[in-house]
Amino acid sequence: MKVYEIQSKPESGNLVLTERPQPQLAHGQVLLKMRSASLNYRDLQVLRRTYTAEQPFGIVPLSDGVGEIVALGEGVTKVKVGERVATLFMPEWQAGDLTREKANSALGGAANGILAEYVALPQDGVISVPPHLSDEEAATLPCAAVTAWHALMVGESLKAGETVLLQGTGGVSLFALQFAKMAGARIIITSSSDEKLDRARQLGAHEGINYIATPNWYKRVLELTDGRGVDHVVEVGGVGTLNHSMRAARYGGRITYIGVLTGNAGEVNVFSLIAKNIRLQGIYVGSRVMFEAMNSAIALHTLHPVVDRVFPFSEAHSAFAYMQSGQHFGKIVIRF
Ligand SMILES: NC(=O)c1ccc[n+]([C@@H]2O[C@H](COP(=O)([O-])OP(=O)(O)OC[C@H]3O[C@@H](n4cnc5c(N)ncnc54)[C@H](OP(=O)(O)O)[C@@H]3O)[C@@H](O)[C@H]2O)c1
Repeated sequence: MKVYEIQSKPESGNLVLTERPQPQLAHGQVLLKMRSASLNYRDLQVLRRTYTAEQPFGIVPLSDGVGEIVALGEGVTKVKVGERVATLFMPEWQAGDLTREKANSALGGAANGILAEYVALPQDGVISVPPHLSDEEAATLPCAAVTAWHALMVGESLKAGETVLLQGTGGVSLFALQFAKMAGARIIITSSSDEKLDRARQLGAHEGINYIATPNWYKRVLELTDGRGVDHVVEVGGVGTLNHSMRAARYGGRITYIGVLTGNAGEVNVFSLIAKNIRLQGIYVGSRVMFEAMNSAIALHTLHPVVDRVFPFSEAHSAFAYMQSGQHFGKIVIRF
């Protein structure tokens, strides 16, 4: 079968198309014939080898995909041949709190991912997807959508009438936009592009701020909220935007810390975190239980993920280059 591997080949962006035998199924595993996969910013970091310290070469990239079950290993009772399923970002995280063991099962990081024609996964590592979604749409759910769901809808969830601040128009932020709209919240979104802000308004954003034209965008957020600040910030920028986010949050507000688009290192003044009683919570994707709850909401509201572009399997390099360019609005998909 055809499979992409991460190898030490800077001239091809470390991404190499090669051949491997079809995987043999272990007890409890199912074989997926992949139909679509989607890219996350993390996948770019994995290729650049800036994601974690422990990244062996020879790993198959990407965590997110959808496929058809074509064979069952011994002991499989929960799924059937012919079912269309998506991958779980962390196959071991079924429910409850995250643990080191569950986190270590994440696909396409230190463990093999899914950019291969056939993939073997534990039966608990796959999940059925809402039937109204195309394969390309369903392939966008495992990481970006579950992360946005976890940030906004799990624990102290976003309520109707509250205001949420979203950063940029990438995968996580546009899912957050759609979930916030579903919840009846007011949505303020930032972007580097006025054209993307217009598209975000068409999706339901109430206010848009260009963070290039308005570098001190937190001041505009405060103006838009009569000086009060927002109830919830979905922080995908990271250290470079966190200071502004804390200024833009209301007293007693929430910041769910997700992304590292501006990096992991830098100066953060935590004074307003304390002075304003802001709750800051790290989010790492989510569990099967969260994925199932999200799927129910997506099905009920017939929500469609925002798919920007679809690339054929043979052009995976171009999909990564497109993500690197930052031109995308929403998700980038690969079709097998
Ligand atoms: N913790 C987790 O579990 C988890 C899960 C998923 C993603 N993440 C992280 O979340 C971040 C976003 O991931 P993604 O997959 O959604 O990425 P993505 O689809 O590539 O989106 C990136 C977008 O973010 C915007 N952006 C870039 N720099 C920005 C800045 N300084 N301020 C505001 N917006 C900025 C840009 O939007 P415009 O073009 O509109 O400016 C860019 O297109 C990444 O750091 C990723 O690693 C974390």
